[in-house]
Amino acid sequence: MRTRKAILPDANQIHDLIAGYSGDGTLLPRNLAEICENVRDFVVLEDGGRIIGCGALHLYGTHLAEVRSITVAPWAQGRGGGGLLVKKLLAEAKKHRVTCICLFTRSPQFFARLGFQVAHRADLPDKIYKDCHVCPRFHCCDEVAMVRGELPKFAILPEPATLLVKLQGMNV
Ligand SMILES: CC(C)(COP(=O)(O)OP(=O)(O)OC[C@H]1O[C@@H](n2cnc3c(N)ncnc32)[C@H](O)[C@@H]1OP(=O)(O)O)[C@@H](O)C(=O)NCCC(=O)NCCS
Repeated sequence: MRTRKAILPDANQIHDLIAGYSGDGTLLPRNLAEICENVRDFVVLEDGGRIIGCGALHLYGTHLAEVRSITVAPWAQGRGGGGLLVKKLLAEAKKHRVTCICLFTRSPQFFARLGFQVAHRADLPDKIYKDCHVCPRFHCCDEVAMVRGELPKFAILPEPATLLVKLQGMNV
């Protein structure tokens, strides 16, 4: 097994891998156009020339990046591929001098073994401004926020005008 940066011809296989886990909300759905547009964020896991996993690193700025869309084909899990993908994305974040890597997951134990610690989502305002405030599960999120590195001290994205209303009564 090896990891490499994704290229556009990988987009369909990345789409299929993510789709396999987005139906039940384990992963955020990503349509093919989105994957093509952001293909430079992705790494893929290959075995014998076949793509069996993928993951992405979304850069907010040097203060924050997010590991997302991590998955390994069900039949290939438990062989170290998931760990390889995360390590490749961490190396990518290091190359860009990112000081905090975050993620949102229902599998916190997997990421704890890779050095991530549970955090408060309120400590990651960029994530809230980018994704959470438009998520249908905004008020009933069952994902655990995790970080590796130093918590960001500022947000780079503007706070959406509608967010204040949504935040009332919610313990983010
Ligand atoms: C999470 C996932 C990517 C792990 O891939 P994988 O190839 O099985 O991972 P690895 O083989 O590198 O596992 C490393 C260790 O983590 C453990 N692990 C794997 N998945 C785990 C999970 N969901 N929860 C807790 N521990 C897990 C493994 O048992 C293994 O432990 P070991 O070293 O003692 O054997 C894979 O299970 C997956 O695609 N899950 C569905 C999508 C998903 O949940 N993605 C993460 C959400 S952000």
